[in-house]
Amino acid sequence: MDFFKNYTSLIDNAIRELPMKGGALAGLYDPIAYGLDAGGKRIRPVLTLIACQASCGTPNPAIPAALAVEMFHNFTLLHDDVMDNSPTRRGKPSVFSKYGLNAAVLSGDTMLSMAMDMLCRLPDSALRAALECFNRHTIEVYEGQQMDIDFESRDTVTVDEYLEMIRLKTSVLLGCAAKLGAISGAATPMEQDLWYRYAEALGLAFQIQDDRLDVYGDPATFGKPIGGDILNNKKTWLLLTALDSPVAACVREVMAMDPSAEKIDAMRRLYDEACVPELCAEAIAGYTHEALLSLDALTLPAAIHTALADFTSRLADRQK
Ligand code: IPE
Ligand code: IPE
Ligand code: MG
Ligand code: MG
Ligand code: MG
Repeated sequence: MDFFKNYTSLIDNAIRELPMKGGALAGLYDPIAYGLDAGGKRIRPVLTLIACQASCGTPNPAIPAALAVEMFHNFTLLHDDVMDNSPTRRGKPSVFSKYGLNAAVLSGDTMLSMAMDMLCRLPDSALRAALECFNRHTIEVYEGQQMDIDFESRDTVTVDEYLEMIRLKTSVLLGCAAKLGAISGAATPMEQDLWYRYAEALGLAFQIQDDRLDVYGDPATFGKPIGGDILNNKKTWLLLTALDSPVAACVREVMAMDPSAEKIDAMRRLYDEACVPELCAEAIAGYTHEALLSLDALTLPAAIHTALADFTSRLADRQK
């Protein structure tokens, strides 16, 4: 059974059916519908649904939680593109470049409340644990986003600080997504924790691959502009690795350049010289392996284990 294809269409269909007011309120709801566009990979709600399926034999009880997580994720993208001054997302203008800053702020706020509203549709037996999980980890996302922005203007950031920043801004939401599925499927607290740990490790590999694609991706496939992290002096895994290599002094000179296409080219050449892409692939493989070990600790039905192991390896290699 192709769980992922089925779950992705289930989520895409549920999103298409969400009521979006037009008329006088189109200014608020059009950017939401646009931001939720089907170009997203839907990896977080897929994790929610499969964790639920593994726990109780059906994904259905987790549908409100899956929608809440995907809505929250898309809300963060509206604000993230403002913070990163990023003009493109999923191959189209980002919400703030199409509709303006006010829309990104206010439609984003509305999406956060819609996410909470969806979560409240869970049965009472799961609601309290789900709300605690959601609130705890969504606050962590904001903490990670703040660290990401603070690091832009810092000269030095350690790899441990970077790992904590990406754990917060990205991994915890994958962990939360999987745990919400386990909660919805009435899994034991120990199983819920194992699901969280698996998806958290997966999230580290996922974000390092995102950093890599931001430099080496094909913009047509990746759907985001290439080189944005270099222009913003983002402390990515690639930059920190280059700063710890024999070309570090040249890297610092490029960091001091004003934003330009030349800056991106110059930094990419230094990354190549310092073998950053190869080292990056090793780091991604390491966290993917960690995720696979956590997966083994969950005693899953064989079909689900195989599907998830395959999904985990494919994400490490993703091009979009
Ligand atoms: C983008 O996440 C934000 C990151 C944490 C890197 P995704 O790559 O999952 O975004 P979509 O939803 O598939 O576009
Ligand atoms: C995004 O990190 C994390 C969140 C949206 C919370 P990035 O800034 O690297 O994500 P992209 O590359 O813009 O999708
Ligand atoms: Mg960004
Ligand atoms: Mg960002
Ligand atoms: Mg990125």
